[in-house]
Amino acid sequence: MPEPFPATVHISGHPLVSHKLSLLRDRTTDPKTFRELVRELSWLLGYEAMADLSTEPYRLETPLEPMDGTRLATKVGLVPVLRAGLGMVEAMLELMPMAEVWHIGLYRDERTLKPVEYYNKLPDAATVQVCLILDPMLATGGSSAATVDILKAWGAIRIKQVSLIAAPEGIATLSAAHPDVEIHVGAVDRQLNERGYIMPGLGDAGDRQFGTFPPASGA
Ligand code: PRP
Ligand code: URA
Repeated sequence: MPEPFPATVHISGHPLVSHKLSLLRDRTTDPKTFRELVRELSWLLGYEAMADLSTEPYRLETPLEPMDGTRLATKVGLVPVLRAGLGMVEAMLELMPMAEVWHIGLYRDERTLKPVEYYNKLPDAATVQVCLILDPMLATGGSSAATVDILKAWGAIRIKQVSLIAAPEGIATLSAAHPDVEIHVGAVDRQLNERGYIMPGLGDAGDRQFGTFPPASGA
């Protein structure tokens, strides 16, 4: 019997998410369709992940009469992890056009599976109240945990991870390192393989989005 996940882990049970994830996983899905699906899934998961953002009332006038409207009271930062997280940004910005976007560049060393940081232009102090880390794949959890380390050092207080697919190992690593981080995922797959790929997964999310398949890649 697998361990139950911590309460901070939210696995979408939405039928549209399951449907679109299956199309995304299919090896015959071409990069253009793959990008469209990443965008649609990001919209759906983003909607769920932002369900508890705080709001405040404000006065507005409809063409007929004044009323109390509602607006978001939280400054949100979107943190796409390069490269694969880029495909999730536009959908999130459609949901929240006022969000700030702060890119973090990390790649996973293929030999050690450890994250290597190569881009970070965060200003000295945090400028947002809630950070949404955008990365389609939560595999070993190394990249996510490193991104949270960076954001906490920056001063971020509330952090959510939004991923399309996670491995149980990645959830365990991220939750152990950062129990306060909420994790929103479309699905949790069976396990990692010996190369750190999520099984059954979808292969390499960056390569499939951007059409950069290494000649000998089995992913
Ligand atoms: C992928 C993915 C995550 C990371 C997940 O990026 O987009 O960032 O691997 O793996 P982890 O949980 O084991 O750290 P990758 O390193 O392939 O870089 P890319 O997005 O530039 O292709
Ligand atoms: N990164 C990916 O893109 N896919 C995986 O399965 C693991 C890490």
